[in-house]
Amino acid sequence: MTNASESAQFCTVGGVMTLDQAVEWREQLRAAGKRLVFTNGCFDLVHAGHVRYLQQARDLGDALVVALNDDASVRELKGAGRPLNDQDDRAEVMAALRAVDGVVVFSGQRATSVIDALQPDVYAKGGDYTVDSLNPEERAALENAGAEIQILSLVPGRSTSSTVKKMRDSESNGAKRKLRIGVLASGSGSNMQAIHDAIVAGELDAEIVAVISDVKDARVHQRAKDAGYESVYVDPGPYKTKLGEAAQKEIADRLKAAGVDLVCLAGFMRMVKPPLLDAFEGRMVNIHPSLLPAFKGLHAWKQAVEAGATESGCTVHYVDAGMDTGSIIDQESVPVLADDTAESLHARIQEKEHILYPRAIRSIADKLLGE
Ligand code: GAR
Repeated sequence: MTNASESAQFCTVGGVMTLDQAVEWREQLRAAGKRLVFTNGCFDLVHAGHVRYLQQARDLGDALVVALNDDASVRELKGAGRPLNDQDDRAEVMAALRAVDGVVVFSGQRATSVIDALQPDVYAKGGDYTVDSLNPEERAALENAGAEIQILSLVPGRSTSSTVKKMRDSESNGAKRKLRIGVLASGSGSNMQAIHDAIVAGELDAEIVAVISDVKDARVHQRAKDAGYESVYVDPGPYKTKLGEAAQKEIADRLKAAGVDLVCLAGFMRMVKPPLLDAFEGRMVNIHPSLLPAFKGLHAWKQAVEAGATESGCTVHYVDAGMDTGSIIDQESVPVLADDTAESLHARIQEKEHILYPRAIRSIADKLLGE
């Protein structure tokens, strides 16, 4: 393997370059029998974890090109507050690193077009990914290019989200800060609304910092917009009741980028499993429309009517790997009336949900902020 200064002997360009320049350079590398390593990312707040990861990537070949998300695509991926540093600055910092030979800024959320153009020999990605959680489009482009995919281990404790957290903690300087909530919802979003209303009314010392839905046209998007939040749709992948690996990764990344302390499932109709669950272990709660452990699963209000129950209600519980099995935080009960339909019972349960959810969050907020 050569280092960056040796590689300069067989290339005419380096540093920040256009895609056309990178393609020309790539041809020179190929002609010289050199292996091109490629990686991509936002690299908004560069830390030692990035530096070590990029060095490991560089060591896999003879030259390393980093494709850097432009500002618009970082905003789409990480939310309105990012990037903190604009693309010119980020590119300059990247290009100054010893491990990096070339930097190309690209638009759009996927680096597919850069992969297609550069046809890298090796593709490196950080260890918070697995081969399965790579974006399917990017993975297909890499397979098409015949690139070897290398997942590199991350440096524990060095991440952009831990840097952001340290900054927030030091800024608050011991003062009590607000609980940062991320909401996952698939439907109408009345529970997200109830959390928002409790915050506005001063009953819950928290802020909603992320709203994510697996349903493109769910009403929760409009409710979020009306309340002043940006909501995003994440493609859940090909399954009916679970989330694909790429979707889990994207949701976890978005929640981490927003600095979420607590994830609230509010009518989120998919099972949350590791690795998304692992990323927020003990910090993910769900509201379920029954008095758990009774009537787990879908349409719990319908199950209650059909079973002839005389009482039902709602439960807020921690999320674990089972279906509605996590430990219970709080509950509210309602009567089931003789003439109830599934719909009338659900409406009565929802009234209680809107009181219960903010109350349950309030009861665990101090513990979560103390962690
Ligand atoms: C709520 O009743 C919630 O308890 C239920 O979906 C509804 C969502 O309403 N959740 C489940 O059944 C989860 N298994 P919303 O979108 O108006 O908040």
